[in-house]
Amino acid sequence: MSALEVQNAAKNFGGVHALRGVSLSLEEGERMVLLGPNGAGKTTLFHTISGNIIATSGSIKLFGADITRLAPDARARLGVARTFQITNLFANLTVLENILLAVCGADKLTFRFIRPLEGYSGIQARARGLLDTWGLSAAGDTLVRNLSYGEQRQVEVVMALSGEPRLLLLDEPTAGLSPAETLRVVEMVRKLPRGMTILMIEHDMDVAFEIADRIAVMHQGRIIAEGDEIAIRGNKEVSDIYLGVEETDA
Ligand SMILES: Nc1ncnc2c1ncn2[C@@H]1O[C@H](COP(=O)(O)OP(=O)(O)OP(=O)(O)O)[C@@H](O)[C@H]1O
Ligand SMILES: [Mg+2]
Repeated sequence: MSALEVQNAAKNFGGVHALRGVSLSLEEGERMVLLGPNGAGKTTLFHTISGNIIATSGSIKLFGADITRLAPDARARLGVARTFQITNLFANLTVLENILLAVCGADKLTFRFIRPLEGYSGIQARARGLLDTWGLSAAGDTLVRNLSYGEQRQVEVVMALSGEPRLLLLDEPTAGLSPAETLRVVEMVRKLPRGMTILMIEHDMDVAFEIADRIAVMHQGRIIAEGDEIAIRGNKEVSDIYLGVEETDA
């Protein structure tokens, strides 16, 4: 059974066809990177998987369960967590406070029906444990607005991990980062538990190949190529798009 199976997903915004029939399947523990130029539909695909928007047509299954029309919190309860392309932190709270909020939220979603909420000290211990695991303990009492942008992106990933998701969606966690900061985020993703299924949006091909078992390339609402590093590097349509993008950037 696939961890995630997207079948023929389409999404229209008025006349804009953001997704034109996307099909995608990830096995449990697989790490896939989604590449593609601006406006390709990558974030829209994430929204349809996390429930922030409902696909116009098509279906989405998580470990065999149809989640196409579920609300985001119901999907979170089934094990979906995500980060956003635009930073989504409380800038005037400390790093620890941000993580505490995420742990409390995850606790409510995941454990409400299984066991009573643990006391505040237990939640604190789990938040501190997460900071410790991810090397952010020293920054625990720092206000998020005083962190570097790279550190903020790391905090966001840790927040997404607070509910121990089965499927983690990362929307460009390295965008706008320096090479050194990018490396830290890449290392972080590589250290995630091997059983966690990961779908990550990334613009840089080299970063994508560092992380991914498999790559999918989107363009104009479609997946135009899918495969390993050799297949993607050798794909003419992909290189045309990427060379085109570099030319317009120059
Ligand atoms: N809420 C919306 N309303 C109208 N159009 C939208 C909306 N969200 C996205 N679009 C359009 O859908 C298309 C796909 O956008 P999307 O954000 O999914 O692309 P992307 O691949 O994530 O791009 P980027 O690399 O710039 O983040 C674009 O043409 C975008 O303008
Ligand atoms: Mg996007």
